[in-house]
Amino acid sequence: MKKSCFAFFCLLSACTILLITGSDEPMNAQTLPPKSSIRKQSFGSLPDGTPVDLYTLTNQSGMQARIMTYGGTIVSLRVPGRNGKFDDVVLGFDSLAEYVHDSPYFGAIVGRYANRIARGSFTLNGTTFTLALNDGKNHLHGGVKGFDKVVWQAAASTPDNDLMLTLTYTSRNLEEGYPGTLKVEVVYTLTSADELKILYTAETDAPTVVNLTQHSYFNLAGAGTGDILGHRLMINADRFTPVDSGLIPTGVLQPVENTPFDFRRPTPIGERISADDVQLKLAGGYDHNFVLNGSAGTVRLAARVEDPQSGRAMDVLTNQPGLQFYSGNFLDGHHVGKGGLHYRHRYGFCLETQHFPDSPNHPSFPSTVLLPGKTYSTETIYKFSVMDGKEQ
Ligand code: GLA
Repeated sequence: MKKSCFAFFCLLSACTILLITGSDEPMNAQTLPPKSSIRKQSFGSLPDGTPVDLYTLTNQSGMQARIMTYGGTIVSLRVPGRNGKFDDVVLGFDSLAEYVHDSPYFGAIVGRYANRIARGSFTLNGTTFTLALNDGKNHLHGGVKGFDKVVWQAAASTPDNDLMLTLTYTSRNLEEGYPGTLKVEVVYTLTSADELKILYTAETDAPTVVNLTQHSYFNLAGAGTGDILGHRLMINADRFTPVDSGLIPTGVLQPVENTPFDFRRPTPIGERISADDVQLKLAGGYDHNFVLNGSAGTVRLAARVEDPQSGRAMDVLTNQPGLQFYSGNFLDGHHVGKGGLHYRHRYGFCLETQHFPDSPNHPSFPSTVLLPGKTYSTETIYKFSVMDGKEQ
């Protein structure tokens, strides 16, 4: 987007936010526990005029998730810390225009295929499909206009006192090169136990591949306040998938034992990140898929992160086979985030639950093929808590 056009678009979105905040609609307020609510407001519109809404889900203890219909993006997540202090723990922007202009997938739903597909090509039932190349010679995160850049239909509801936002999107046959019309539903639920649950389902009318994830960048001390190198991370994985120079898995499932990838006991993210290790050098830090222990298909603990400074902890549970741990290696300070704070190198980390990268080209990896008549269904839970005295 040209600079002058971008400035005008920023101004337009800012005005729209101001105008609409006044007509903020509380929904189902009478049926919910005191203090909890779902509110809908405008978050502006895209350059082509498509309106984008922002939903604010607040539970009875005050935890709050703001999610917009552009990219199904988590715009902010305010969670309690020590002494009842709330902070926003995800990176993002103040305006829609900034998300549209240049966002490294901050908070977005990623699909049709999260992570990389080598050379943007795969063969299914004898037919080779060619996808957009948007990461050197490879395909990344669904292509040029993936699910992070489309506007989803939204519906709010409040089953069993939970706060639920259902997002739907239909991806047409051969969108970004993928076969089959794919109907996708992503349900975000904020529970009274300070969990953000995400249910993904998809159905297709022709054989295809699917791999959906959520791309929030977390900083449990508060977005924009510093790097995440002091956060302690546990990943429930005995193995990971080493990559080549294009970050495509080699196909090997390598034990983490005696490597800087052993996070089976809580370890500060920064402790070994600069170690003399080929895999860390290739990715400029951690940007790797871990092979989660336990049975894929069963929801189990995948990871836990603790920030000793704020006392916040986050558990990640999923029924997916893999988890991409990305240590914010490409953040370089040029993104000016919420409240005017710069997001510098490693100011956020991602824990993206997923199938392994490039699975369509690795028959030995768990399959990502979806057939007509079948339903793709996965679940991920980000659960927040405050560490008690003993843990700190
Ligand atoms: C994922 C990838 C990274 C990077 C980020 C977005 O985590 O694995 O290599 O592309 O998304 O910047």
